[in-house]
This record gives sequence, C-alpha cells and structure tokens, in this order.
Amino acid sequence: MFKRVVRSWLDKDEQGQSSELSPDNIPQHIAVIMDGNGRWAKNFGMPRVIGHQNGMKAVKRATIAADELGVKYLTMYAFSTENWKRPKDEVEFLMKLPAEFVATELDELVERNVQVRLMGDKSILPAYTLEPLEKAIRDTKHNTGLVLTFALNYGSRIEITEGVKKMVQAVQEGSISVDEITPDTFGEVLQSSGLPDPDLLIRTSGELRLSNFMLWQLAYSELWFTPIYWPEFSKEHMIEAVAEYQRRIRRYGGL
Ligand code: IPE
Ligand code: IPE
Ligand code: MG
Repeated sequence: MFKRVVRSWLDKDEQGQSSELSPDNIPQHIAVIMDGNGRWAKNFGMPRVIGHQNGMKAVKRATIAADELGVKYLTMYAFSTENWKRPKDEVEFLMKLPAEFVATELDELVERNVQVRLMGDKSILPAYTLEPLEKAIRDTKHNTGLVLTFALNYGSRIEITEGVKKMVQAVQEGSISVDEITPDTFGEVLQSSGLPDPDLLIRTSGELRLSNFMLWQLAYSELWFTPIYWPEFSKEHMIEAVAEYQRRIRRYGGL
C-alpha cells in the first residue's frame, strides 16, 4: 500500500525531479528533536506558547507522513529532563498539551492503527499530563501499525544512569552475572527497550546538537538537520529527510 503512496508523492514533485525515494529503503525508526517552537512564534511577534500550540499540529503532520511512508517507529522528543528550567508558565503550558493532543487526535490514531508509547520518567508528571497519555496508550495497545513514542521528561544521562542501577541491582540479586552485561542486555534496561535503534534522527531549528536525546541509541543513526522551525514541519520535510537518508551509505565501521 505504501509503495503506491510513495509513488504518488513522487509524481507530485513540483520540480518534476524524479525523487530518490525508494520504497525498499524507508527508515524503520525515525527519531525527532522537535525544536524551534519559541523562535517560530517570536518571528511572528507572538508568545512562545503559540509556537508550542502550532508545534502540536506539526506532530500530527509528521505522524501521518511517517505512517504513509511506511515508517514503523516514530519517536518524538517532547520535553527533556532539562526543560523544567524554563519559566513555570511555559512548563505548565507544555504539560497541558498532551491532554489536548489526545482529545483531538486519539480517534484518528486509533483509526490509523497507531500504537502510542511513552518514554521518560513518568513519576513527576502531573496527573493532567499523564492520565490522557495513559488512556491513549491503553486504547492503542493492541494496534499493530506505526509505534508513536513520546519522550516526555526524558533525558539520556538519567536513562543510562538508571539502567546502570538496574544492572547493579540484578547482579546483586544474582539474576544476572557480570559477564552477561552486554550492549544487548544493557539496551533492554533502557527506557527505549522494545524499540530498534533509530535509523534517522531529524532535528529542526538549525541547532546541531543532541541535547541529551537517545545518546546510546543514536550511536549509528544518520543525522539530518534542517533550519526550519518545528511548527513549519510538513510532509515535504519528512520526504526530504528520508530522501537524504537514502543517499547515505551506512558502514557501521566496516568498509
Ligand atoms: C521545542 O521548541 C519544544 C521544546 C523544547 C519543549 P523550543 O521551545 O525549544 O523553541 P526554541 O528552541 O526556544 O525556539
Ligand atoms: C531539546 O530542545 C528538547 C526537546 C526538543 C524536547 P531544547 O530547546 O531544550 O534544546 P537546547 O536547550 O537548545 O539544547
Ligand atoms: Mg529549543
């Protein structure tokens, strides 16, 4: 089915260029650092939170685009463990967005067979943030399509440190030996357990850094940076990123 969609997008290419998108080399997992909401709003003389509001619409566009391309996993960095440093009003606004997203989009996510997941420390999220997300997770648990993971109150260093603690505890309890600690078994104690490593990382807003996002998992991912701000992100940008991904040669240290 998605081959047809990919083809029809190619046919619509305005420059008449035959795009490189090959249906056989679609990244299985795309991770996204959604950045630039505040600057986008500022450009229009609007408060930063309007950028976040519009960023939510871009999440929907990115989800649909990934789904139609045949991507299996889409992981969205929505709030970092460092974002608590922001002004209280902005944090509160961000924390209220999931409820709005679930209220407006859950039906379509269910219809599209999308499975919603959460990554990050849930323990300090307010109930008004967590409860709607948990409803979305419950209602989509048996869906078999795109796996859409929100990284909320997520930070790699905490994730890795917590993983180390779990491993130490397992060794102390005798359920695992020191020799059994390998990159594979360690990957299983991370919050991303069950997700393959991202094939492609997208970051918007022109910043060229990872900002504590999936440091372990991105070891061999292809990185794609774009100057556009997250609220501007559209299907065309997703196609552009995937087209660039398909031009890359992944060597994993080999030849
Ligand atoms: C990304 O946009 C959203 C979050 C980090 C929550 P920003 O809010 O970081 O926007 P800029 O980078 O300040 O423009
Ligand atoms: C990264 O963006 C976090 C998210 C997109 C959720 P930031 O805006 O927080 O990153 P820095 O501070 O510019 O590195
Ligand atoms: Mg930012």
